[in-house]
Amino acid sequence: MNEIHCRLEARWTSITLEEGRLEFELFNLGDASLADFRLSYTSLTRIEDASKCENATLLRRNANLHEMMPVDGKAIAPGKSWRFGVGGLTRPARHRTDGVSTAYITLADGSRHDIALGPFLPSDSPATFTPELVPEGELEFPVSILPWPKKFSAMGFGAPPVALFAQDGSSTDKIAALSEISELAARLFPAEAQPFSLCAVTGGRPIRFEENSDLAGEGYTLSFSVDEVKLASAGHAGTIYGLVTLVQMLMASHREPEKFSFPASGNIEDAPRYQWRGCHLDVSRQVYPLASVARFIDILAWNKLNVLHWHLTDDEGWRLEIKAYPELTEIGARRGPDEIMTAQLGTGARTTAGHYTQQEVRELVAKAKRINVDIMPEIDIPGHCTALLAALPDLTDGQEAPESYFSVQGYSNNSINPGLPQTFEFLEKVFSEVAQLFPFPYIHVGGDEVAPGAWLASPKAKDLMAKERLGGTPELQAYLLRRVKTMLSGMGKQLSGWDEVSHGGGVDPEGTLLMAWQKAELGPELAEQGYDVVMTPGQAYYLDMVQSEDWQEPGLNWAARKVPPKLTYEYEAAGEFPEPLSHKLKGIQGCIWSENLVSRELFNHMVFPRLSAIAESAWTPRDKKNWQRFAATCRRMPVL
Ligand code: ACM
Repeated sequence: MNEIHCRLEARWTSITLEEGRLEFELFNLGDASLADFRLSYTSLTRIEDASKCENATLLRRNANLHEMMPVDGKAIAPGKSWRFGVGGLTRPARHRTDGVSTAYITLADGSRHDIALGPFLPSDSPATFTPELVPEGELEFPVSILPWPKKFSAMGFGAPPVALFAQDGSSTDKIAALSEISELAARLFPAEAQPFSLCAVTGGRPIRFEENSDLAGEGYTLSFSVDEVKLASAGHAGTIYGLVTLVQMLMASHREPEKFSFPASGNIEDAPRYQWRGCHLDVSRQVYPLASVARFIDILAWNKLNVLHWHLTDDEGWRLEIKAYPELTEIGARRGPDEIMTAQLGTGARTTAGHYTQQEVRELVAKAKRINVDIMPEIDIPGHCTALLAALPDLTDGQEAPESYFSVQGYSNNSINPGLPQTFEFLEKVFSEVAQLFPFPYIHVGGDEVAPGAWLASPKAKDLMAKERLGGTPELQAYLLRRVKTMLSGMGKQLSGWDEVSHGGGVDPEGTLLMAWQKAELGPELAEQGYDVVMTPGQAYYLDMVQSEDWQEPGLNWAARKVPPKLTYEYEAAGEFPEPLSHKLKGIQGCIWSENLVSRELFNHMVFPRLSAIAESAWTPRDKKNWQRFAATCRRMPVL
């Protein structure tokens, strides 16, 4: 067979500020005619109105997947191209990542071939580029520590020791902590010199460990002299954070001695500002190998963040092994042209698949705990359940009309049905396995973005509405979540969810922790209703948001036109809360939604240094935050 070699180029033409068209050109770069084929592409800018396609027929659209063919079935001769245009789109394109994410063609023999993507550009004005958004920065003190400590009073600086080592007679748990952070540094920076040793080092300096039960749980103090460093803490977390501070300073002073040195006298007194310092990671839209998740947890620890909110399920994939329902991962963890679930963003001609086994999860949880990171699992219900329902279609009402509602992401009938007894049997089995796997007190149950009108065409849901006097979709959702809350309590767990958990009457706020994501003002509103709150506003803390308004900058802009690192850094969640409600603010969290993050490079570009900006707000007192210092040190932080 002749080799298939095609490339798709796309342009955006604005009609109004909110509306425009995509103009495509598919080039046949192979040496045979391309006949009798279908083009499939995935794009967040979706076609809603098939009648607005020109010179192409839309055969099918499923969420972000589009399947097209030339109107007259015309072949493309070698060296020639097929031009077509589409309008009736769900959103305007404003950035290069608003176009095609993956594309492939299917030939008459059923074979599939990935095709190359050219640049996606605007046609009516030149694309603009973003200059560096983080300045060189400026240091107050010649040390590299991020997040910056609560009190820094080291004033004498000097040449760094070759390494730091455990003073003779250090207790077993301190030696274990030193070893733990030494291994953390080696994993994150394998090319760097080892900073810590368990035995004496010529040219090194001893660390004298001290227990001090007066210090805060995660707090520590460091006292510097040319003879030793004293590290005092009340427990394991404080010890490892003191060691992270030391290793950051030491490695920076070895690598960039003209900029950074090491304290020869003085003190650091440190403790975190918030108890909840989190980051969410969506492993449904993109598949992250276990090793990447483990590295991400290491990165959290290096930033002194202490919660991984692990978004394990969504429409595009179910990624956790559940023993009672192997089909959840056999079917729901796979997407591609030959799977039950179609290709979506990041998937082309080949299947994308992956999930975490229970054994892998247990090991990861234990490993994370040693560096003071807890893992909170999220099983996103009752919406965002396309993958779940692909595996277990009986969790919808068979009498419900197909396509009776659509989620904002374009999925139809993607919510498990509260009117069916088997829904609760399913939830009981899944959550009891999840509760066994994750020792963290909270299980996050999603609750976000259930489509307006969900279940209203389901006779079973209508029966439930009549029986329980429920008014509509939000009340049906709240009914389901109240039962889930009771179920979790029986398993010794507390319920966490997105802000919509409060809709339709909500659940009992006692012991419930909600994340304010849609807008910051929701934080104090939820607190007023009695919920504990973690602030994750899209306008500052969603790390998939674009960092400038320039076309060539990747990212989304539904929450804000731009979220540059400086905005993320300077945003103050506490500023949203009046004093009487401030005790309900438990902390802050970044969110990494991965629809658009189809490569490691894009992930790193979007996530860093904004993740460290959030980490500094989570740890450092407001009056000690300093953008210039942050800028001068953030490039030393690890990336995935
Ligand atoms: C969300 O961004 N749907 C919580």
